[in-house]
Amino acid sequence: MEESIRKAVELIRASKHATAFTGAGISVESGIPTFRGDNGFWSRYDPMTLDIDYFKANPLKSWKVIKEIFYDYFEYSKPNEAHIALAELEDRGFIKQLITQNIDNLHQAAGSKKVVEFHGSSHKLVCLDCHKRIKPSETVLNNLPVKCDSCGGLLKPDFIFFGEDIPRQAFLDSMEAARKSDLMLVVGTSGEVVPASQIPLLAKQTGAKIIEINVQHTQYTEEITDLFLEGKASEILKKIVDGLNA
Ligand code: APR
Repeated sequence: MEESIRKAVELIRASKHATAFTGAGISVESGIPTFRGDNGFWSRYDPMTLDIDYFKANPLKSWKVIKEIFYDYFEYSKPNEAHIALAELEDRGFIKQLITQNIDNLHQAAGSKKVVEFHGSSHKLVCLDCHKRIKPSETVLNNLPVKCDSCGGLLKPDFIFFGEDIPRQAFLDSMEAARKSDLMLVVGTSGEVVPASQIPLLAKQTGAKIIEINVQHTQYTEEITDLFLEGKASEILKKIVDGLNA
């Protein structure tokens, strides 16, 4: 077993309250591009599409792009080995809580139960007027912009747009999880978006060890990371689970 994997296995075994914090990088091997970087969504789509004021002013234009990215594209994505590994670590009691910035529901699809969706989820639509929530079925998404069948209001995906607040309960649960962590696995995130990116910082401040898994260094690496495991999330996490089984 590689020395770095052995160290990670040791830290996980010794932890009393390990948590995980994930970003878009963990879903890359499920076919979902990251937001930043060469092939990222923001290199192909204008982030303005996900600005709440722009959305309200241009519902049809915005909904067409949203449907293309988050429904047509995400539709066929399946959990990869990384999601499955984290679900196994939860199942075996090593991971007490998983906080994700992702809205693709792949952690839940892989079997993780203790998931905080810090930015919400694409798996529900919410009415801006009466706050009714519905599932984004095929028929619903074929009539854009999506309107509420109760009050006629405009529906949006139930994840936060730029200019919207973090879901309050998700924020509170994440801060509590960070404070309670004695170890945090930080997987596939650039750490560029606040306030989500503060979560590993808070965990570090309150005494957690940080294991970072990424294909490249990030702003966390020099600042808070105790053990940097360079590589694809699926490969690294699978090796860690195998190491825990050894
Ligand atoms: N395995 C591990 N890490 C990977 C992999 C991989 N296979 N592929 C890419 N990465 C890393 C990249 O090196 C980068 O550090 O994943 C990270 C993705 O960074 P971002 O695209 O910035 O995604 P994220 O950190 O989740 O962005 C946070 O920004 O646009 C908003 O709401 C959106 O939740 C998102 C937030």
